[in-house]
Amino acid sequence: MTDTESIVKEAGLSPARIPEHIAIIMDGNGRWAKAQGKERLEGHWQGYRTLKNIVYDADALGVRYLTVYGFSSENWVRPENEVDGLMDLMLRAMQSEIEELIESGVRVRVSGRLHELPPDLRAEFESAMNRTTTCHRLTFHLAINYGGRAEVVDAVRTIAQKVQDGTLAPADIQESHISSNLYAPDIPDPDLLIRTAGELRLSNFLLWETAYSEIYVTPTCWPAFDRDHLIAAIADYQRRIRKFGAVVE
Ligand code: IPE
Ligand code: IPE
Ligand code: MG
Repeated sequence: MTDTESIVKEAGLSPARIPEHIAIIMDGNGRWAKAQGKERLEGHWQGYRTLKNIVYDADALGVRYLTVYGFSSENWVRPENEVDGLMDLMLRAMQSEIEELIESGVRVRVSGRLHELPPDLRAEFESAMNRTTTCHRLTFHLAINYGGRAEVVDAVRTIAQKVQDGTLAPADIQESHISSNLYAPDIPDPDLLIRTAGELRLSNFLLWETAYSEIYVTPTCWPAFDRDHLIAAIADYQRRIRKFGAVVE
């Protein structure tokens, strides 16, 4: 047995049905902080510690892609000190983690309108992506200044340009033209979408890619989410029957 197989079996999971791609809406940092009598930013820092653990737990369980919603295109409306604090957190976290990510074979990808981020944060993300292109274990995919609608708009702009140039006829536009012009066309659609902190909504996350994802919502706030919660989500996923529109008896 490989290391991964024995870890998966010890967790009570089936090695044959580990989701290839897990996406997470990491929600509830503010509520967690409030419940502890702490500032919202302390919730975000604890959320970072959770994320660090979950990246390596997911990799150990054989997950190939982990996409996390770190900052939405709508989160800019938050108070200035929270937005600034989040930008600073992301910069410092990436600076402190990059060597360990490389050593662990984790490939970093970042999707969203990165040109609207502070230049030092954008440069740090670009460096992390460049330095991990040959890493072959988990792909750790961060959605930052990401909006599902903005992603589709950006894809449509590229397609419209081809139509204007005369290289593509409107009648020939297929779903694959949209898919292949999204931010990360090489990453398969998520098998499992986890949302922490109980809200039953997508909040503009991966609108196109989650068409057939299995959804798991836990009341646990993100800073309190741990390996056992991840295993519980995967165990729930393994009990689902995926049908993709077909009749499955
Ligand atoms: C999620 O936690 C993190 C981000 C959106 C950056 P929240 O900050 O949304 O926490 P709640 O929803 O207010 O509890
Ligand atoms: C979604 O959470 C965004 C992230 C987790 C980064 P929000 O807290 O922004 O979502 P809403 O506002 O509750 O829908
Ligand atoms: Mg929230």
